[in-house]
Amino acid sequence: MAQGVNRQILLAARPVGMIKETDFARREQPIPQLKNGEFLVRNIYLSLDPTIRGWMTDIEGYMPPIGIGEVMRGGGVGVVIESKSPQYTVGDVVFGLIGWQDYYVGGASTMWPVTVVPKGVPLKAMMSIFGGTGMTAYFGLLDVGKPQPGETVVVSGAAGATGSVVGQIAKIKGCRAVGIAGSDAKCKWVTEDLGFDACINYKTEDMARRLKETCPKGIDVYFDNVGGEILDIVLTQINLRARIVLCGAISMYNATEFPPGPKHYVNLIGKRARMEGFIITDYLPRFAEAMGELGPWVAQGKLKYAIDQVDGLENAPTAINRLFTGANTGKLIVKISDEPA
Ligand SMILES: NC(=O)c1ccc[n+]([C@@H]2O[C@H](COP(=O)([O-])OP(=O)(O)OC[C@H]3O[C@@H](n4cnc5c(N)ncnc54)[C@H](OP(=O)(O)O)[C@@H]3O)[C@@H](O)[C@H]2O)c1
Repeated sequence: MAQGVNRQILLAARPVGMIKETDFARREQPIPQLKNGEFLVRNIYLSLDPTIRGWMTDIEGYMPPIGIGEVMRGGGVGVVIESKSPQYTVGDVVFGLIGWQDYYVGGASTMWPVTVVPKGVPLKAMMSIFGGTGMTAYFGLLDVGKPQPGETVVVSGAAGATGSVVGQIAKIKGCRAVGIAGSDAKCKWVTEDLGFDACINYKTEDMARRLKETCPKGIDVYFDNVGGEILDIVLTQINLRARIVLCGAISMYNATEFPPGPKHYVNLIGKRARMEGFIITDYLPRFAEAMGELGPWVAQGKLKYAIDQVDGLENAPTAINRLFTGANTGKLIVKISDEPA
């Protein structure tokens, strides 16, 4: 029977604007004793994702809001350290919604499935390229964007967890890949290290002019991670039958008032273009298929992933804002405890 303390971070208030320390409460509880059918996980890495900002509001989305006083919801990986469940064995590394806490108790009554990570998969790969953001890049680009060889793919949030993978898959599929990111260092990373053809710093450059220069044949696929003004400018330069993949709209997640909608959506009509949203959880049954294609690309060095790691569960409440200030490059995670030897 595991002994010790389970530190938990709870939602204390619904944020207004950027997330603040006072939006959270902290509590320490004894590690629970297991009932029949349950298993205990020592959490190792916690995933910090922009969607958590949406779960902190009281708006019903593709998942219910986190209740005030509830443990913060979050995905991650951990190791099973005790089990009264026939499905999980001590030593299994698992992946699922483990929450902002040191220990997670799973069982028949838990809402979301926890899956066992295949042996040999690095845990940081599971948190990024083989986890939610890698899957989002893969299915969002290939299934919704349907890029064809020779086409031009533009992606915003290009140095983030999802965007950095989107541009690389576009290159693997024979497309021109142009990123949009918030600093010169990020642009340098995606072009020099990841092989994008070009990258625009949206904070310092004239977006419309630079899109014209970097996409001389126009834009066939736009993978949108940010929404707002950037989406509107891209819409002015789309090609006939372009596909706009609505993955996220991070520029609006902390907005206290919604900005006006994109003015240039009318171009979708003349260009017979399509704008389509998607949610990655719909693709859960196809994750193995994506891993089957992404795995060899990673092994062959064609696809790289980066991790932005913050140490310590106690730092999660401040670390999450790295997503909104643009401090992260690659997948933002929090290390809660050591990986098994
Ligand atoms: N549809 C789905 O199922 C699904 C699944 C996963 C993620 N998503 C969405 O995909 C997007 C990326 O998520 P991620 O986890 O990969 O995060 P990420 O890209 O690793 O991090 C977020 C990045 O967004 C950029 N950003 C923040 N505020 C911005 C603003 N006002 N304007 C422009 N860029 C801004 C920052 O980079 P800069 O320095 O470049 O500004 C930041 O690094 C998010 O919108 C997320 O909600 C959707």
